[in-house]
Amino acid sequence: MSTQDIKEVVREKYGQAALRVIKGGSSCCGAAPAVEGCPDPITSNLYDAGQIGQIPDEALLASLGCGNPTALAELKPGETVLDLGSGGGIDVLLSARLVGPSGKAYGLDMTDEMLALARENQRKAGVENVEFLRGEIENIPLPDNSVDVIISNCVINLSADKDRVLHEAFRVLKPGGRFAVSDIVVRGEVPAEIRRSVELWVGCMAGALEEKEYLAKLARAGFATVSVEATRVYRVADARELLASKGIDVDAIAPLVDGKFVSAFVRARKPGAGSGVRD
Ligand SMILES: C[S@@+](CC[C@H](N)C(=O)[O-])C[C@H]1O[C@@H](n2cnc3c(N)ncnc32)[C@H](O)[C@@H]1O
Repeated sequence: MSTQDIKEVVREKYGQAALRVIKGGSSCCGAAPAVEGCPDPITSNLYDAGQIGQIPDEALLASLGCGNPTALAELKPGETVLDLGSGGGIDVLLSARLVGPSGKAYGLDMTDEMLALARENQRKAGVENVEFLRGEIENIPLPDNSVDVIISNCVINLSADKDRVLHEAFRVLKPGGRFAVSDIVVRGEVPAEIRRSVELWVGCMAGALEEKEYLAKLARAGFATVSVEATRVYRVADARELLASKGIDVDAIAPLVDGKFVSAFVRARKPGAGSGVRD
C-alpha cells in the first residue's frame, strides 16, 4: 500500500469513528465495529475521575488513545502544547486546563469529522485557549521553534512516514522543548507475518515501531534524552476472542506475541535553551 493509500484508509476509519460518536455511540479501537461500550484493553480506563470531570462526555466517548500523555507530560501554566492527531480533542482540552489562559493548546488532525467533533467538544467545554488545526502530522502547519511540548496519543504508529513526523516535531519545538507521547511500541522481535496478522485485526496497533527503532529514529531526528517507558503490557489473552474470531490460531502465535506489544510513554527533548541538554 502506498503512503497515500494508508492515509486514506486511516482517514476513512477515523471519520467513521467520529460519526459514531456524533450519532450518540462510542468510538472503538481495533477492528471491532461500534459495539456498545467497546471495552477494549487498549483504550479503556485511561483517564482518572478528576480528568473525566473536566471534559464533555463526547470527548471521552471519542477517546481512541492508548495512554494519558497529559498526566505524564508535566505541563506548566503559560506553555504552548501541540497534540498530533488530536481526534475528538480529549488531550487538547485537558492540556488547555493545565497550561491555563496564558498558555495555548493546539490540536492537529487530518480528518474533517474528527475536527468537527473536537470543535464541538471545545464549545461544550467552554475553553478558549484552544485551536484545532486541519493538516497532517507529516507537514505540521506551525512555524519553527513555536511549541513547548508535543503530545500525541496513539497516532504516530499510524503514520507511514515516521521519520518525517519526528523531523517535523523537532522543527516546531522550541529549543529545550519536550516530546511527550503515548504510543504503541513492540518490544523485541515478532515475526513479520504474525505481526501483520495481529496488527490487521487489532487495528490501533498497526504500524507500531520496535522500541530500539523508535529510540534510534528520535535520535536521528536530533532529539536527546530519549526514553520509552511501558505503561501497559498486552497479553495474548487480551485479544484472544478478537483474534480467534478472525480465524487466527491463537495458541500457535501466543509464545511469539505475548507481552511484546505495549502502550508506552515516549519522551525526548530538543537540545538547547534551558533543556540541560547541550546542542
Ligand atoms: C487513534 S486516533 C487517536 C485520537 C486521539 N489522539 C485520542 O487519544 O483519542 C488517531 C487520530 O489521528 C488522526 N490521524 C492519523 N494519522 C494522521 C496523520 N498522518 N495526520 C493527521 N492526523 C492523523 C486520525 O484522524 C485520528 O483522529
